[in-house]
Order: sequence, then structure tokens, then C-alpha cells
Amino acid sequence: MKDSEHKIDLLAIDDLSGNFSELIEWAIRIKNDDEALFDFKPLEGMTVGSIYEKPSTRTRVSFETGVSRLGGQPITLLAGDIQLGKSESIADTAAVLSRYMDCITYRCFGHEDVVELANNSSVPVINALSDLHHPCQAAADMMTIVENSEKMDGHVSWVGDGNNVLHDLLLGSAILGYDIKYATPEGLEPNDSVIARAKEIAVSTGSSIEGLNDPREAAKGAGVIYTDVFVSMGEEHMEGKMSSFEGFQVNEELASLANDGFLFMHCLPAHRGEEVTDAVIDSPNSVVFDQAENRMWAQMSILTLLCNETAWQTYWELR
Ligand code: CP
Ligand code: NVA
Repeated sequence: MKDSEHKIDLLAIDDLSGNFSELIEWAIRIKNDDEALFDFKPLEGMTVGSIYEKPSTRTRVSFETGVSRLGGQPITLLAGDIQLGKSESIADTAAVLSRYMDCITYRCFGHEDVVELANNSSVPVINALSDLHHPCQAAADMMTIVENSEKMDGHVSWVGDGNNVLHDLLLGSAILGYDIKYATPEGLEPNDSVIARAKEIAVSTGSSIEGLNDPREAAKGAGVIYTDVFVSMGEEHMEGKMSSFEGFQVNEELASLANDGFLFMHCLPAHRGEEVTDAVIDSPNSVVFDQAENRMWAQMSILTLLCNETAWQTYWELR
């Protein structure tokens, strides 16, 4: 695809709000469809390049395997190995890669960098995590919630830091109409403009969003408890940050406030003994490895929609 007028970029999960529910159903369908993996190759002849400025296990491997399963060629570009950030600008990198690739994924520090890459690229750009958003994570998270929706009783709760993973969980929950209560330490609340966007969507889907500073209030009666590391990648220098999270560990005592059969969720990697105890993450309530697997299926749905919408539609109608 070389048509910047009509491309869709995925920078935050609300970029896909019109198709989000179908995107997730599509991902669940292909996950459970053994036949499709043999005869459905919508990315045949296409190349997907992925730039990483930060480490990654799930995002990198799920993109590489997902692109391969769809018949495409994944190319991973580690920031230390390419000219970007040393002798070449983001804009020039975007223009060059658009001549080789059919889609670019980018894991960066500042969100403005993935916006700049998207603005200067003629092929779709997918945010593979920035400081502000992690839409691919939210796609897998909402897929996991939908898969468990019949047994889920209660709202989605968040206990932890107010940054990238929470931002897209807020938007994703609002799009699909799930109520969410989030608890963050004072001063670490989510970004105001993201909250405003999520609240506007929630009005249209009839769901609620409540911001708190008390993890117990968020966990009480929850159907999901979700947490993330207290100190994100790139924040290692913020020495005092960890002390803000006293009382925010998801342990058996906090989890006992949730409804029976609640789902414990974490984007991973987990820092066991910090934001979550072994007893909770290894309990039958934990769906963290389903979330990790669903990264691949959800991204396969996104990649097919962005790179070959006709094939996405055809699979949707035939299966
Ligand atoms: N959850 C997530 O994005 O994991 P990685 O950092 O391993 O890609
Ligand atoms: N908030 C975490 C998410 C890791 C997947 C970070 O940005 O490091």
C-alpha cells in the first residue's frame, strides 16, 4: 500500500473505535480457526518493519510470528543498528522505509515520535508502545475480557500507574461499554486529554469511568483487577517513584475485595513481589498468559485490516 491519503495509522486504540468490536471478534475467530492458518495469507508479498527503541519480548515476537502466519515477511530493526536517532531524522526514516515496507510498527519513548513517523510515512504505522499509548496491548486485553465476558461479574479495575497501558485500557473499555474504576497514586493520574476522550466515548456507549486514589475502592466488587509495573521503561532514573505505590500491590488481601472468579490481568513483564505477588499472578484467576498470546491474534486482525482490508472483510464474511 502506497497511498498516504487512505491509510489508517494505529497510534492509540480509539483510532480504531469504529471497527474495534469487529476487530476483536475477528481475532477470536482466527484464533479458533485451524484451517485459516494454512490457507489464509492476506500479507503474502508484503513486508512489515518493526523499529524498537526499547526492549521487547511479547511485542516483537508476536509481530514476527503474526506477520509470518499471515504470509508476510517481518523485519525487526533495533534502534542501535539503524541510522534513526543518530544521523537520520524520523521524517527521512519514514520516507525511506515507506519505499520498502507495507506497514511499520514503532516502539519509542515520546509519543510525538510515533506521530511524526506516521505523518511522514505513506504506509500504515502502528504504535508498538510509546510513553502515552499502548494500543496493541489494549486490543489483546479487551479480546481477553471479551473471551471471559460470560463469567465476568463486575467492573474493570486498575491499580497502579496512570500511563500508557491504563490510557488504552480506559479507551478500549469505554469503546466496548465496560465500566472502569482506576486507582493511581496522587500525582500519577492518567493524562487529562486521554481521560476526556475516554469519557466522551463512555457517554456514547453508556459506560462509566471513575478515577480514585484508593486501590481498595477500585478493587471492591471488581470483575477484573489489572496492574502494571510501578516504574516503566525509560523511568529507571525516577528513584523516588516506587515509594508512591505503598498499598498498591495486588496481593491476596486486595484481591479478596474483588468478586469471585475475578480476572487478574497484567500486560507483562511483571515484577513479582512489587506490583503483584506470586500467589495472585499464579492463581487460577490469572489470565496474564492468555493476554500475552492474544497479542498475536489481535495484531493479526489489526495488520490484516490496515494492510489488506478486502481480505479482512472476506474472511469476516466467509468464516
Ligand atoms: N506487554 C508488552 O508490551 O511486552 P513487551 O515489552 O515484552 O513487548
Ligand atoms: N508501562 C510499561 C508497559 C510495558 C509493556 C512500560 O511502559 O514500560
